[in-house]
Amino acid sequence: MLTNLRKAIIPVAGLGTRLLPISKSIPKEMVPVVDRPLIQHVVEEALAAGLNEIILVTRGGKSAVEDHFDTHYEIEAELEKKGKTALLEALRTITPPQLKVTSVRQDRALGLGHAIHCAAHLLQADEPFAVILPDVLVKPVPGDAAPVDLAVMAEAYQRDAAAQIMVEAVPLERVDQYGIVDCGGVEPAAGTAAAMRGVVEKPKPADAPSRLSVIGRYILPGEIMGLLANTPPGAGGEIQLTDAIAELIRLGRPVEAFRMQGRTFDCGYVQGWLQANQQLAREAGLLE
Ligand code: G1P
Repeated sequence: MLTNLRKAIIPVAGLGTRLLPISKSIPKEMVPVVDRPLIQHVVEEALAAGLNEIILVTRGGKSAVEDHFDTHYEIEAELEKKGKTALLEALRTITPPQLKVTSVRQDRALGLGHAIHCAAHLLQADEPFAVILPDVLVKPVPGDAAPVDLAVMAEAYQRDAAAQIMVEAVPLERVDQYGIVDCGGVEPAAGTAAAMRGVVEKPKPADAPSRLSVIGRYILPGEIMGLLANTPPGAGGEIQLTDAIAELIRLGRPVEAFRMQGRTFDCGYVQGWLQANQQLAREAGLLE
């Protein structure tokens, strides 16, 4: 069993154009979803999967994301003085002692693959890592006893040393918005994985190898950093993580598509973000 899976790379350098004007001066990762910023939900998901070392790939103008995981001495001192213990505790749970947050800058917007490669020097040789795209929230179905999807993927990687890519089905007309996986016609059941034969970034519906889309949760071997260094620009003229994963498969490394059991909320655009707030606030008993 492998045990060195500890790091999650979270790219937060995007401009957030789909959330404008909300995201003009607030990083899109800081928009609230119910009672906490989007980024906090995502870091909580990483922690639940045993990934305690977070690497934020960021850029200028987004320091609020890093500040959220910093100690706020003034607020804490004030709350302590006033005896507001519950609030103080809630604040401290944002940064449990095991959480380590590091950040690195992406100097040019050359795509997701480039953003991930910006963290390469922060990993040991061949150290595996997770990638979490923070636009999409992945939440368990309420009342369902199934474990956190990312935790299942992390366990599978540590057991089998096969890269894990979280997927869910999308309607055919939307395949051109996602990475689409090729499992040779096999449709894994929720909570299970199937071996991948390929993956394509944003294919036309006619060329899509399946309707299983990449959601934005990955567990990858350290080897992929070397592949990213040599990945040419692909779809949209950007260096695509998808293309490096396709290369990993071509090299014969085991890569599996894990079909999620939970639900996704795409908070990267206004309607999806509103829906997440409405649904999750209802489930938390905060809305009728
Ligand atoms: C990125 C990935 C894509 C994935 C998607 C999930 O695309 O490149 O493979 O399916 O995230 O949200 P983007 O949404 O950045 O265009």
